[in-house]
Amino acid sequence: MSKSDHVARARAVLAANDRGGYTVPTHGLYPFQWNWDSAFVAMGFATFDIDRALKELERLIEGQWDDGMIPHIIFHAPSDTYFPGPEVWGTKHRIPTSGITQPPVLAIALAEINARAGAEHHARIAALYRAALNNHRWWANARDPEGGGLVAILHNWESGRDNSPEWDRPFARVPETTTTAIRRRDTGHVDASMRPRDDDYRRYIHLVDAYRALNWDPALMWFKAPFKVADIGINAILLAAEESLLDLSRAYGSEPESREIETRIARQRAGIAGVWNAERGQFQSRDLIDGTKLDVVTSAGFLPLLTGAPSQAQAAEMAKAMRSIAADGAMLVPSTAPGQQGFESKRYWRGPVWAVVNWMLARGLFRHGETALADVILSDTRSGIERAGFCEYFDPLSREGLGGEGFSWTAAIYLLLAETSRTARPEAA
Ligand code: GLC
Repeated sequence: MSKSDHVARARAVLAANDRGGYTVPTHGLYPFQWNWDSAFVAMGFATFDIDRALKELERLIEGQWDDGMIPHIIFHAPSDTYFPGPEVWGTKHRIPTSGITQPPVLAIALAEINARAGAEHHARIAALYRAALNNHRWWANARDPEGGGLVAILHNWESGRDNSPEWDRPFARVPETTTTAIRRRDTGHVDASMRPRDDDYRRYIHLVDAYRALNWDPALMWFKAPFKVADIGINAILLAAEESLLDLSRAYGSEPESREIETRIARQRAGIAGVWNAERGQFQSRDLIDGTKLDVVTSAGFLPLLTGAPSQAQAAEMAKAMRSIAADGAMLVPSTAPGQQGFESKRYWRGPVWAVVNWMLARGLFRHGETALADVILSDTRSGIERAGFCEYFDPLSREGLGGEGFSWTAAIYLLLAETSRTARPEAA
């Protein structure tokens, strides 16, 4: 099959998952709009349809809460193929949503779209800029209220890396009891060996029950959360998003807004600088309840490459750590490195490779001058998708495509990769 055939198929996946201006991650398993999926999908649309790209983000923002939070799921239309649905979340927004968030890729996507858009789109971009600014303010206020420079997630689903081994230790203090009856739907779509285990799942729902009982009040949640982790992935993505927002603020915002964003950037860079693990050659998450580092080598630990936080020496160390994972025979970049405690090559975020993470890592490697490694990651991702189709993720050891099929964000990344490597390079933003 030629590259243009794959491009046509990628566009067909997006079209098949389009539910009217928003795109579901995949049919059945994820039947609503997901926050960070949407941002990648919007970038994919931007390769051929700016109007539709902006629409995806506008539909996401329909779910934004008055305090600036952007939920991880927007339940635009009912579906009974997913648990936990709106009745379990019990939130109060005019469109039903979940009560937690996900990695804030929005401003990164918006900058990417802006670089491709003409003047006729500027008014819509300006409105989305404002939504992203409010969202970043929410992150600072609600999730770093003490101003330490690292934001916290209060639920593992917020990380987007649902059951990374990093969360195993923090979850040990979360009870398995739930007030909600659990009716898992995911294991009806995908083999249970690839999905979170039942006892973990009960803890995830325990957190949902606990926060619903607090009426999703951010201050109370911060105070009472039994799970409070500075996820390195989210901190890296938020900082990269702030850097994108700063660029956008010069065209769409005001001078004081640019200064406000710069202040947060300086604080967040310092926060990330403080979680460098020299021995592992990467940055790592922190458990904010007991202050300990979550010492697991993950793909997320390299995501600060997306930002100006790493020194040149640290960037080189991260590239070296990735090369050594490849030298051991793994496809880059495994969500958890083989050999780490908790590694499982097929189970959700415990080993598998995700195309969206690879795209971000390659972009970060370009930014820091590690172009050869970036090119390897991009071409392996592209050929992996051409071989396996628009699967959810890859087994890093066997390289087979796994999880759900017909995945929107995998298709979107393919569209970006098929355009040459231009879009992975930061100069494009
Ligand atoms: C899973 C992933 C999450 C993603 C969602 C929809 O829950 O862990 O990152 O947003 O699926 O694709």
